[in-house]
Amino acid sequence: MGSVIAIHSFRGGTGKSNLTANLAYCCASTGAHVGVVDTDIQSPGIHVLFGLGNSPMKYCLNDYLKGECTINDPIYDVSSKLSLPPKSINLIPSRLNAQAIVGMLKEGFDVQKLSTAVTDLAKKLELDVLLIDTHPGIEEDTLLSIAMSDALVVILRPDEQDYLGTAVTFEIAKRMEVPKTFLVANRVPSELDSDYFRTKLEETYKVPIIGILPFSYGLMMAQSKEIYCFTSPKDPFSLATRTAAEYILKNTKCTN
Ligand SMILES: Nc1ncnc2c1ncn2[C@@H]1O[C@H](COP(=O)(O)OP(=O)(O)OP(=O)(O)O)[C@@H](O)[C@H]1O
Ligand SMILES: [Mg+2]
Repeated sequence: MGSVIAIHSFRGGTGKSNLTANLAYCCASTGAHVGVVDTDIQSPGIHVLFGLGNSPMKYCLNDYLKGECTINDPIYDVSSKLSLPPKSINLIPSRLNAQAIVGMLKEGFDVQKLSTAVTDLAKKLELDVLLIDTHPGIEEDTLLSIAMSDALVVILRPDEQDYLGTAVTFEIAKRMEVPKTFLVANRVPSELDSDYFRTKLEETYKVPIIGILPFSYGLMMAQSKEIYCFTSPKDPFSLATRTAAEYILKNTKCTN
């Protein structure tokens, strides 16, 4: 079975969804079979990056968690939009509408079901890697996403509030015995000495720093409407993201 990787940050808006979608593309473009699950039920959105923002999605992860469809139903093959062979990227989105979100928050869901779904998906689709886009902060669904992962990628921005929250996140991952933890710094201004910054992060968190992603004006202007590594492969953000994807593929291979 392939590896399950959660992408998380303590605070919101750090770039999780953009990074997850771009990592998915970079992994798939090397020939890997990739799954992407949006467990950010409260504020879903990664489907927008894959061009499904205005598409009526008959089934979403919400329907599966409520027992209203099978896990085969909410799988969307988004490969062709990215000029990839069929089944390269399989997206399991969450529903972005008020009723679905409020319903899920009010009624809750069977957490074990999500964990089973992830394992089943990885096996059924013969995935090499399954990326989980998460809700920021530490809540029950986040803890579950972290607990079922083989590796956790934490994102921070150069911001004191992010630094402190990231330490808490790694502490939780340690307690939950997540096998591997990695750190990505995002929105790093060019004025910051990236070698010095990397060393500081390594000393502080004692985990591999798999990407120092620059602030990208082009990515910001893309407004989450595209997969930037596909549309602007030579941008420094895209190059650094590709390196992070290669690191993940190489260092999270499961042997079972
Ligand atoms: N390196 C970057 N340079 C410039 N803009 C960026 C960069 N990374 C992300 N952004 C922008 O930051 C915004 C937030 O990104 P994104 O939605 O991926 O964050 P998120 O962590 O998923 O947010 P949330 O916590 O709300 O789920 C987006 O508008 C995105 O385009
Ligand atoms: Mg997000």
